[in-house]
Amino acid sequence: DTPQIGVAGMAVMGKNLALNIESRGYTVAVWNRTGSKTEAFVKDHSDKNLVPSYTIKDFVNSLEKPRRILLMVKAGQPTDDVIHEILPFLDKGDVLIDGGNTFFKDTMRRNAELDSSGINFIGMGVSGGELGALKGPALMPGGQKEAYDLVAPILTKIAAKAPDGTPCVAYIGPNGAGHYVKMIHNGIEYGDEELISESYDLMKNVLGMSDDEMAKTFAEWNKGELSSYLIDITSKILTYKDDLGSGKPIVEMILDRANNKGTGKWSSENALELQVPQSVITESVYARYISMMKDERVNASKILPEVVNKDIKIDKDKVLEQIREALYFSKIMSYAQGFEQMEIASAHYDWDLQYEQIASIWRAGCIIRAKLLEPIMNAYKKNPQLKNILLDDYFKDIAGKYQDAARNVTSLAVQLGRPVPGFSSAITYYDQYRSAQLPANLIQAMRDYFGAHTFERTDRPGNFHYTWYKEQ
Ligand code: 6PG
Repeated sequence: DTPQIGVAGMAVMGKNLALNIESRGYTVAVWNRTGSKTEAFVKDHSDKNLVPSYTIKDFVNSLEKPRRILLMVKAGQPTDDVIHEILPFLDKGDVLIDGGNTFFKDTMRRNAELDSSGINFIGMGVSGGELGALKGPALMPGGQKEAYDLVAPILTKIAAKAPDGTPCVAYIGPNGAGHYVKMIHNGIEYGDEELISESYDLMKNVLGMSDDEMAKTFAEWNKGELSSYLIDITSKILTYKDDLGSGKPIVEMILDRANNKGTGKWSSENALELQVPQSVITESVYARYISMMKDERVNASKILPEVVNKDIKIDKDKVLEQIREALYFSKIMSYAQGFEQMEIASAHYDWDLQYEQIASIWRAGCIIRAKLLEPIMNAYKKNPQLKNILLDDYFKDIAGKYQDAARNVTSLAVQLGRPVPGFSSAITYYDQYRSAQLPANLIQAMRDYFGAHTFERTDRPGNFHYTWYKEQ
């Protein structure tokens, strides 16, 4: 058969996506810069409909027209390099799909550049890790709609399926929209990981729970409204023992320095750029940065005063349930911020994002898949124009029921000296968002006092300057 699609880049994601596509009845052309990788891959899967090429020209020429090529190369310069090499062999109407974790502004630039030579360019967020790529990822494609239509049948077949059978792929919007939504997905992923880790810290260091006890608790939580992939794997992770023989749980042997590949930072940078409050995700980026300063923390731990011994009575069962509620409450704040950021970005970049659909395709395959996405879908189904999910009845009720727990857990942690940047930024955001009056009037007064920056008044329109002092 003539291959209906080609995959360029034979690292693990490229290989697994190629196998996933092949398993749905397609013949897949494959190419890699280092030919030996391609050779080894087709040799390992000699029973599969894979067509290897060892030059870009042969690879492109082997494909059915209009050509569909999935680029699975390193984000950044390597992606530009491959596009540059492939371009001379393409014809108008061909479709290039970048499935890497690409910065959305690079996708916007590439989409515009290629569009001027008649080449379609789709930037596609792919979530779910190696296994997701093989069995069914969540896919977030953005670019020309006509180009999406040409690849939609394949993408629909390889995508994960939500519990109701809906494929976890949809046309997200023009140019960089798909990679943008993937960036927000990753920011939310950072927030979820941080909030779960803070819960673990409080269970361990405030409630004195063992890893086995915590594993059981997370497994229990995973049966309810918190049900999600990350809670599920946490419950499993806590049961694993050290493979190097210390006899301890492996998680207690892992150094507390959380690295990152930059996508969480991008979503925070963009929030600052678009002037959107995105504190939970941003705090989780900072939490990783301060975790990396291990030596400095160890040193400071020997120098700086500890918490003065507080005699706080703790009812373990009660606090544990409060942690569960605080976790759900805080997770909701993080998603509220992420979705509002997408709404503001959608207007700013002119994307017309569909929030019910985005929540829908995050229900399976991706790292942040969670039960919470169902009520988010429902909220946008009821009101596609919804400004913030907190204004929807379901979330309003949860806020009412759980805000107390969020306050108690945060203040307990603060009093005991356990850092909770995620929890505390979540409850603070909630209080800011529901405040008709904030102290920003005083900020305006100061700005006007020292710099004549002017202010607005509460009782009449216009910009005013007050004569704070007579010139000397
Ligand atoms: C996914 C993940 C994945 C992402 C890493 C990066 O959706 O499968 O988001 O694409 O690259 O999880 O995270 P770090 O910055 O923590 O390495």
